[in-house]
Formats: sequence, C-alpha cells, structure tokens
Amino acid sequence: MKAEEILRQIAEETAVCTKCALQHSRKKAVPGEGPANAEIMFIGEGPGFYENEQGRPFVGQAGKFLEELLVGIGLKREQVFIGNVVKCRPPSNRDPLPEELAACSDYLERQIQAINPRVIVTLGRYSMARFLPNAKISDVHGQSYQVKGRTIVPMFHPAAALHQPSLRPMVEKDFKRLPELIAHAAPVVDPVEEKTPEVKKEPKQLSLF
Ligand code: URA
Ligand code: SF4
Repeated sequence: MKAEEILRQIAEETAVCTKCALQHSRKKAVPGEGPANAEIMFIGEGPGFYENEQGRPFVGQAGKFLEELLVGIGLKREQVFIGNVVKCRPPSNRDPLPEELAACSDYLERQIQAINPRVIVTLGRYSMARFLPNAKISDVHGQSYQVKGRTIVPMFHPAAALHQPSLRPMVEKDFKRLPELIAHAAPVVDPVEEKTPEVKKEPKQLSLF
C-alpha cells in the first residue's frame, strides 16, 4: 500500500477508534498531517481544545509558535509531517496516561513506517520518552540520537516555551541546528526494500535545504 493510503487509512481508523478512554473526550481525532514523503516528522503530545475542534494538529498558540520556528529555518508547515503520540484530546488537556499511550502507539508506528522520515523531532516529554525512555529533556534537547537506525532530535514542547519564556531562546537555538542535523542524518534503510533490491527506491534526495 502506498504511504498516502496508509495515512488516509489511519485517519479513518482514529476517527472511530475505541481502543482507549480518550475516545470519550474526542470531538475530532487528530491523526496528524503533512506530506507522506516528509523528511522531517514532528511529534507532539496530544490534541488540545482547538485541535479537537478542527481535527488538525498544532493549530492553537503552540502551533503558531511552531510555525514561526519552522519559518526561522526556511520551512513551511506544509513541508513537514506534524503528529502526536495520542490522537484524541485528553480531558482538560491532562497528560496522557500510560495505557492511553500504549493503546495509541501502533498508529504512530505505522505513520513512521509509512513516511520513513530522515529525522524525527520529538516535542515534549511524552514524545521523547517513546524513543529515549530514560532521557531527561533538559540534558538531551537539541541533540541528535540514533534510535533503531533513525535520527531522533528531542526538543522542548513549544507550549513549554510559551509558559516559561526563559526557555524560548533555547528552543529557538535548538531549531536553528535542525537543518544541519537533517543534512547529516543517514537515510533510513527500509528492511523490506533491502530484501527486494529490484524495487529499491533511489535514496531520498535532500530537497528541503
Ligand atoms: N500540543 C500538542 O502536543 N499537540 C498538538 O497537536 C497541539 C498542541
Ligand atoms: Fe484510539 Fe488513540 Fe484515540 Fe485512544 S487516543 S481512542 S487509542 S485513536
């Protein structure tokens, strides 16, 4: 199945998903959005009020800041994939519970496999913990890590910088490093393609920078 179709299918599944209790606070599921061949994937925590209304990720204040950060490195939000670790809004924006993260995990895994991004930027603790379970965000933010052959760059959540203005310069500085980290990220080798060289794609071109 093509990546676009997989993403579309995930969007359909999350819209009616009953795998965890967040189904009850869902108005619209927020599966995430962006090109199926995006080179960078940003993964946040979960939908807030406006995201739940619109079914789109990062459309509130944190989203505005994220867009500014992207513009600062020459990117538009349409060029990157933006998603979350949980696809339905936790009531009153509370933190997602371990069982909710576990229940929703497979959707994100399928999105990552389909998009196969060069770099995944995690925004906030819950997204970081999926790849770097023992890391402390204050120690690791803005650095790149290889996790299962993929480049992971943990960052503070943009909302954290809005609540705590002293974090803002650090978040901006971390973002400025992204183009270089992306340029140096090794292309991810798809294990399926590796076994069938006749359908092997050309290595992804670095089209963004
Ligand atoms: N914060 C998140 O983590 N995700 C969103 O989609 C919006 C705000
Ligand atoms: Fe399903 Fe994820 Fe929504 Fe829970 S948060 S109901 S697992 S889509």
